[in-house]
Amino acid sequence: MEKDIFKEEDLKGLKIPEHVAVIMDGNGRWAEAKGEPRTYGHTVGSEVVEHMVEVASDLGIKYFTVYAFSTENWKRSEGEVSVLFSLFSVYLKKLIEKGRKNNVRCKIIGDKTALDDELNKVIDELEESTKDNTGLTFIIAINYGGRDEITRALRTIAGEVAKGNTDLSDITEDLVSEHLDTGGIPDPDLLIRTGGEQRISNFLLWQCAYSEFYYCDTCWPDFDRNELIKAVVKYNKRDRRFGGVK
Ligand code: FPP
Repeated sequence: MEKDIFKEEDLKGLKIPEHVAVIMDGNGRWAEAKGEPRTYGHTVGSEVVEHMVEVASDLGIKYFTVYAFSTENWKRSEGEVSVLFSLFSVYLKKLIEKGRKNNVRCKIIGDKTALDDELNKVIDELEESTKDNTGLTFIIAINYGGRDEITRALRTIAGEVAKGNTDLSDITEDLVSEHLDTGGIPDPDLLIRTGGEQRISNFLLWQCAYSEFYYCDTCWPDFDRNELIKAVVKYNKRDRRFGGVK
């Protein structure tokens, strides 16, 4: 278990972002640096996800989103993809019970049509059984791409226009937001990317319009409570103007 650098008193007065989203990068490199296969990094990474959901909840974060598999990740080797999906299956099944116990509401975003029936069944059960929980909302992006999400939303809206149910003048930013997978969820306040790279990689493109970005060199399997608090401390130093002037 990590050594706490931050004490309770350090957290006093700290503004906790309502929604934190994470690009969990560096699993493969972390494992390779230890002479292990890349998939070992994903296995340890999934344990870190489990721990960080509890940490996020303890800190008072209301929405915690993780990027688990992108629409582009299918380009990886069959072996790596297969290990990742086994981890999702095991983890999501476990979350059904854990979500209930810890009052966590779970939601999966992304194009679920490409996922197999068994995983879809687990997802339905997880979302249904946790939907009335009032604590942290934990969002997992699987087969998710920001461009794909916007394209799917446009298709739905265009279909409604074609049927005469929606007028062109009804298409507002709010209407587009409602049609995204994240409809009803506030935009991320803080986007964290681990693993040293500084790019958005097709994650929450619409939703991150005014998010604060935080990058760290720590690879996801080494990410912990201290790292999250470091990001929140940095977030507290940012001056969010949303395009205005203060
Ligand atoms: C990016 O690191 C990480 C992924 C593509 C997978 C993320 C998955 C997990 C953390 C584990 C499972 C998640 C859940 C929700 C159970 P990378 O492998 O691309 O890192 P690299 O840049 O070092 O190659």
